[in-house]
This record gives sequence, C-alpha cells and structure tokens, in this order.
Amino acid sequence: MEIGTVGVIGVGTMGSGIVEVVARNGLRVVAREATPELVEAGKARVEGSMDRGVARGKLDEAGRAAAAAVTWTTNLEDLAGCDLVLEAVPENLALKLEIFEVLDRVLDPGAIMATNTSSIPIIDVAMGTSRPEQVLGMHFFNPATVMKLVEVISTQLTAPAVTEAANAFAADTLGKRVVAAPDRAGFVVNKLLVPYICGAIEMYESGHASAADIDDAMKLGAGHPMGPLTLADLIGLDVCLFTAESLHAEYAERFYAPPPLLRRMVAAGRLGRKTGRGFYEY
Ligand SMILES: NC(=O)c1ccc[n+]([C@@H]2O[C@H](COP(=O)([O-])OP(=O)(O)OC[C@H]3O[C@@H](n4cnc5c(N)ncnc54)[C@H](O)[C@@H]3O)[C@@H](O)[C@H]2O)c1
Repeated sequence: MEIGTVGVIGVGTMGSGIVEVVARNGLRVVAREATPELVEAGKARVEGSMDRGVARGKLDEAGRAAAAAVTWTTNLEDLAGCDLVLEAVPENLALKLEIFEVLDRVLDPGAIMATNTSSIPIIDVAMGTSRPEQVLGMHFFNPATVMKLVEVISTQLTAPAVTEAANAFAADTLGKRVVAAPDRAGFVVNKLLVPYICGAIEMYESGHASAADIDDAMKLGAGHPMGPLTLADLIGLDVCLFTAESLHAEYAERFYAPPPLLRRMVAAGRLGRKTGRGFYEY
C-alpha cells in the first residue's frame, strides 16, 4: 500500500500538527475544516507553527515551503484521492461516524481510514463503515510536530496489511516511534498516565503533600520533565477527567475513578493553562 496523499480532517490542536508533520515529510496533504473561516484558522495554525520553526532555526525555508503542498477544503468529497485519511475532529462519536460514513462512500477501496481519538473504541468508529478492515486508530501526541510517539491501534477486524501500512507510514515516512496498542480504553500511555495524575490529585487533596512538593518530588526524584499536577494543567483538567471516566467505565475498578477534586475543578472552570488557572495560576 503506497501512501502518497494524506487527508486530515479537523485542523485544531492535533490536526494542525499532523498536517505540518505530514507535509514536512514530503507528502501531499488535503486538509478539511468545517467552514471557510475554520479553514483560515487551521491554515494560520499550521503556517504560524512553521514560521516559529524557521525563527527558532528548527525548520529551513525548504521545509517551510511544504505548506504549499497542502490543499485546503471544506468539502469531504475532495479527499476522494487520498490513500490515508487521519481524522482529528472533536471527541464525539456521532460526529466521527458522520465523517466516516462519507469517507466510506468517497474513498478508493484500498484507502486507509484512521481516527486520532483518545477514548472512543476504534471498533465503534470502524463499524460505521462498510469496510471496518480498512479502519484503525493512529493516536498522535500533542504537539504532533515534536512528540515522537504514535500508538497504532488495530481492532479485531483491521486487516494485517492495513496495520503494516500504518506502521510503516508512521515509522518510516514520519520518523515516529510506533507502539502497538490494543483497542482498550487508554491504549498504552493514558492507561498508565491518567491514574498516575489522579493519584497525585488525591495526594494533594488529602493534604499528603503540597502541589509544589509533589511536582518537584517527581521531577527531581523520578527524573520526569515535569510534575504530575503541572502536566495535568498542561493537558487540561477536562481532558484528564474525560479520560479517567472512560478508563473507569471500561474497567469498572476503583483505581481508575476520577478524584472528587478533579470533578469540582472542572465544574468550576479551572481547567489548567487554557483557562489561566488549575493547580497553578498562569
Ligand atoms: N488535544 C490533545 O492533546 C489530543 C491528543 C491526542 C488525541 N486527541 C484527539 O484528537 C481529536 C482532536 O482533538 P483536538 O484536541 O485537536 O481538538 P480541537 O477541538 O483542537 O480540534 C478539532 C478541530 O476539528 C474541527 N472540526 C469540527 N467538526 C469538523 C468537521 N465536521 N469537519 C472537519 N473539521 C471539523 C474543529 O473546527 C477543530 O478545528 C480528538 O478525538 C481527541 O480526543 C487529542
């Protein structure tokens, strides 16, 4: 399976990084947003990131020129010639199914359809198409331009050749480290990371240690680049809560239950960096 043209649907936080990574590696990209205004916003995100790359000396002008290889559209039918489509719209199954239903209709029979979902079972997306063997998860990390990992998630129905092609694309074309993850809540990273963050929140809530002490302990004692509460603020407490809930729903174990403080902070709109306040003020 030759992958020469890649479609990206949704050019927000994740999709913009994915568009940039794919274009910088010399592939043709067709990027789809919902409206002309959102296309402009997506384009500005990608080009702004490339300009910052040039300013910091991390991207040369030839790399910057890759932006020209992106075709922008609001029309899903324009993805018809893509060999691989990466979907990165918000975490809403009904919305994703709507998109996969159109992709199923317009893409060539051999095309691969991938979702970047963090918590929706991949099989639920795949079963919305007439060709679930062509569907899998490709879970990038934020920012996709910098983070080296892609979790590739095959379902019980994904064809082995599709998994192989996705692995080769992520590893050989994009230069990522690929990890095979099962179609289970949290895949590999979030199944380990989110209970760790929730444990830190419980520790803070119970008065076991202060936020700064918890974070410094893990930075200086465990060699982590940032502490768990700083990381939670960076990810967004709403995203942490949502992921903890999906893990708890899947495994029905107390261990995965989100701590009450996390729920209350989300209810209060203290979502971390993006709202200016979480465990810390920004
Ligand atoms: N943010 C993260 O750290 C992260 C990490 C890994 C995976 N994910 C997953 O990636 C997906 C996207 O998350 P995000 O954080 O980039 O969300 P986001 O809200 O930043 O971006 C989503 C984009 O999709 C666009 N969109 C909405 N409806 C659309 C449609 N019908 N067609 C085309 N575009 C449409 C929106 O305009 C927006 O630009 C989610 O499934 C999420 O779970 C997120």
